This record gives sequence, structure tokens and C-alpha cells, in this order.
Amino acid sequence: MPKPQAGLDYGEYLRLGELLSCQSPKSAERGQPAHDEMLFVIVHQVYELWFKQVLHELDSVMALFREDSVDERGIGVAVSRLQRVTEIQKILVDQLRVLETMTPLDFLEFRDLLVPASGFQSWQFRLIENKLGLRASEAGPSANDRRTIETNATLTEAEVQAQLAELAQTEASFAAVLDEKAHERLRAEGRRRLSHRATRAALFIHLYRDQPILHLPFRFLTLLVDVDELLSAWRYRHALMVHRMIGTKIGTGGSSGHRYLLATVERNKIFTDLYDLSTFLISRSALPPLPPEMERRLGFHYPRE
Ligand code: HEM
Repeated sequence: MPKPQAGLDYGEYLRLGELLSCQSPKSAERGQPAHDEMLFVIVHQVYELWFKQVLHELDSVMALFREDSVDERGIGVAVSRLQRVTEIQKILVDQLRVLETMTPLDFLEFRDLLVPASGFQSWQFRLIENKLGLRASEAGPSANDRRTIETNATLTEAEVQAQLAELAQTEASFAAVLDEKAHERLRAEGRRRLSHRATRAALFIHLYRDQPILHLPFRFLTLLVDVDELLSAWRYRHALMVHRMIGTKIGTGGSSGHRYLLATVERNKIFTDLYDLSTFLISRSALPPLPPEMERRLGFHYPRE
């Protein structure tokens, strides 16, 4: 064990002197301190510290997957780190409640001093989106079946047609799971991101997740969707807070405000391929058994002494 450094001090280790002198509310600088601006600054700083930790975890997970083959132990590490990311994300969603103890009127005391600064400019937030692989993508089609649509009395004729078109899309995705060329066409249209091989592997992992060796890969895929879902939850929660704080005013960064933010919730989903996998699941009882040799290779075997 390394020897503890003689005289190391709590405040020195955490560099509290610097950390605690990084809060400079603008209203105080202007000589008219707005009490709530300190909260506003600290809440944002805490977010940025958590973003730093999330990036630290994501970088390490990505490094594990950069190798040509991933050691089984690596998947365990990736799973526990992504699990950590999701726990942090839950705090990030909850933390907005602290900021909401500030009323819209109190916010007005210093809001104008912030222009043109905005959360828009949080480069760490953009980096998180970027590392997770964000790019604009379509939401996946729903798996309604034709008769349910056609006999749904609450739908207008136009809605029935729109839903049938969606169903056709779903059918096309089914074909694509089996047919590589059809999959590549969906990829070229931006409706799929994973390769055909990766999609089939992910589907296999989902369907046969009870096999011991697939437990961790299944947890990993599930966590990717959890991370994505929690990011969407944050986006939605932030949009609600913005609506209540500034109504329908435009943002300090110049966007349409809460309308812009609401639109990002659906538009910025990342792992839609993984969400869409559920379209192709069949019940356990209908699942074809694996060939015995493969079943043997997917299990753990302990020789008797
Ligand atoms: C009173 C509290 C807040 C208000 C009124 C507010 C308002 C807004 C608005 C209107 C936007 C859209 C861009 C613009 O036009 O400025 C935005 C974007 C953003 N805000 Fe906030 N915000 C608040 C608190 C926070 C907090 C605590 C965070 C935590 C880091 C945050 C992070 C972000 C991020 C990352 C974006 C960019 C989102 C994107 O483009 O997808 N905001 N905010």
C-alpha cells in the first residue's frame, strides 16, 4: 500500500480554495445582489462536475470496446461503469427540483444579465451526446397490426392510412432483419445505424439471454437503452422546468425556448436500433431450442473433482 503523504490536508487534496472561489454571480458584480443567483451558479457547476464524471466513465467503456476483441471481464467492467452513469443521471434529473425552488419572479432578478450565455454552450453536454453517438434520426415504426388499425373507430381515414404506412415500414424492418441487403437499404436511409451483423447479434442476445454467457452482454445492451432513456427524461424534465420559468419566451441562447427543447426529446434519441429490437421479439415458449453443441458452448461447465 502506498504510504499516505505526510501532512496531506482535506482542503488541499480537493483544492477547495479554488473550487469555492469559482462562484461569481453577475448581479453581485453589478452591485445589486439577487439572492437566488448563487443557487443558479452552483447548480450548473454541480451539473458540469457530474458531466465530467460521466465522460470519464464513457471514455473508459469506449476504450474497452476499441480493441479487436473484448475480453469477457471487460464486459463486466463496462456494465458496472454504465450502471454508475445511470445512477448519476437519476441524480441529474432529480437535481432540477433544487433549482425549481427558485420562482420565475426571482429568476427575473438576474436573467437578463445572462444573455447570450446558455446551457446550449455546455461543451461537456455536447461531448456526452457525441460520445454516445448522437445524430438526428427517425423514431422507429410501431408494431400495430393491420386489423387493429383498420377497425379502430377512433381513427379518421387519414389516420388509418398513416398508420398502415407505418405498419408497412415495420414489415420492411422484419424483412431487413433476415435480409442483409434490405438492412443496408434502411441504413442508407438513416433508419438503422447498427450493421446487419450487430443487429442480428443484439437480437440473438435478447432472445437467448437466459444462456449464462449472454447475461452480461444482455445487461450491457439494456444499460445502453437505460442511458438513452434517462437522457431523454432529463431533456423532457428540463423542458418542463424551462416552460414554468420563462413561459413561452425565447431562450438566452436564442432558441424558441421550451418548444425547441421539447422537440429534442424525440429527435435526439440515440439507440433507436436497440429500442426497435423489441419489435422482433417472440415469446420464450415459441423460441426454437439451440443446437445442443451451441447450448453447451454458451453455458458454464464445472468439472467434478
Ligand atoms: C432557470 C433554469 C434554466 C432555464 C430557464 C434554462 C433554459 C434553457 C433554454 C431556453 C435552452 C434552449 C437554448 C436557449 O435558447 O438558450 C436551454 C438549453 C440547455 N440547457 Fe438550460 N435552462 C435552465 C437550467 C439548466 C440547467 C441547471 C442545466 C444543467 C446543465 C441546463 C442545461 C442546458 C443544456 C445542456 C441545454 C442545451 C440542450 C440542447 O440543445 O439539447 N439548463 N436551457
